Amino acid sequence: MTSERKMLQRDPAFRCLQNLRGLVEKENVSAGIIAEVDKVMDLLMARNDFCEQQTTRPSQDLQQLMKSTLQHDWQKAHDQGQLVRIPNTMMMSGNLEVQFYRTLASLGNVKRVLELGLFTGCSALAFAESLPEDGKVISCEIDPYIANLARSFLDKATSGKKVEILNAPAEESMERLAQKKQQFDLIFLDADKPCYVRHYKMIFELGLLAPKGTILVDNALFFGDPYTKERFMGEMGDGVTQFNEVVKDDDTVHKVLLPIRDGIMIIRRKEDVD
Ligand SMILES: C[S@@+](CC[C@H](N)C(=O)[O-])C[C@H]1O[C@@H](n2cnc3c(N)ncnc32)[C@H](O)[C@@H]1O
Repeated sequence: MTSERKMLQRDPAFRCLQNLRGLVEKENVSAGIIAEVDKVMDLLMARNDFCEQQTTRPSQDLQQLMKSTLQHDWQKAHDQGQLVRIPNTMMMSGNLEVQFYRTLASLGNVKRVLELGLFTGCSALAFAESLPEDGKVISCEIDPYIANLARSFLDKATSGKKVEILNAPAEESMERLAQKKQQFDLIFLDADKPCYVRHYKMIFELGLLAPKGTILVDNALFFGDPYTKERFMGEMGDGVTQFNEVVKDDDTVHKVLLPIRDGIMIIRRKEDVD
């Protein structure tokens, strides 16, 4: 199953359809109704497949990094005590999202990217590939094992040298970057979901967003929790729900929430858009 198809599981409407499919089978309804339910599910999957097929393929380096992430022996690292828990490799951005990031990074005037939440380096490398030669991605990762692994993957990629990894909680790294008066044209929020509100506020309090800068947020629809209020994902979902509320109430920014994959939000200062 492609990663885009797997992402459909994050859509509560699709999960309802799957439940409905189980029900119609049990309730002995007509074959025509079952066929229509199947058709709706097939159409949703076909749309995702089509978007994936229409999208530029990842570079050889990105393909290799994605493959290495999927093939990595996470269980062994966990059993040897190097990892507290086995990460879900679905955290890695898929190609559709990665090409979207590359498009944004290439729109012009983006030279410095700050990423909060590196994992194995997929999105960091995607940004790096679209930056000019003197461009830089600074990426924060809390887990030492993951940070080392990402470094080893990035060292094999041509644009990997543009990525600097800060192995510490993002909050600490943000403070240090602000002390050094560093600013970023693009800031990507993708760390732990309950940290989203804090990270968003810190960006402005610490002055990390460069003039005309853009904030990009992954998982802004997180399994549908922000609009279903079902708390399907517990406190992780709560974090994203609160984040949506904070951004909605922030009159200083312009925001757009796109239903790409698990939801991508783009935030800019109001005066840069109006
Ligand atoms: C969703 S993954 C990032 C995925 C990556 N951006 C990509 O698209 O391939 C989130 C990562 O953030 C890390 N993380 C979680 N909380 C963090 C924090 N407070 N500071 C820094 N990293 C954190 C996790 O260890 C994990 O590797």
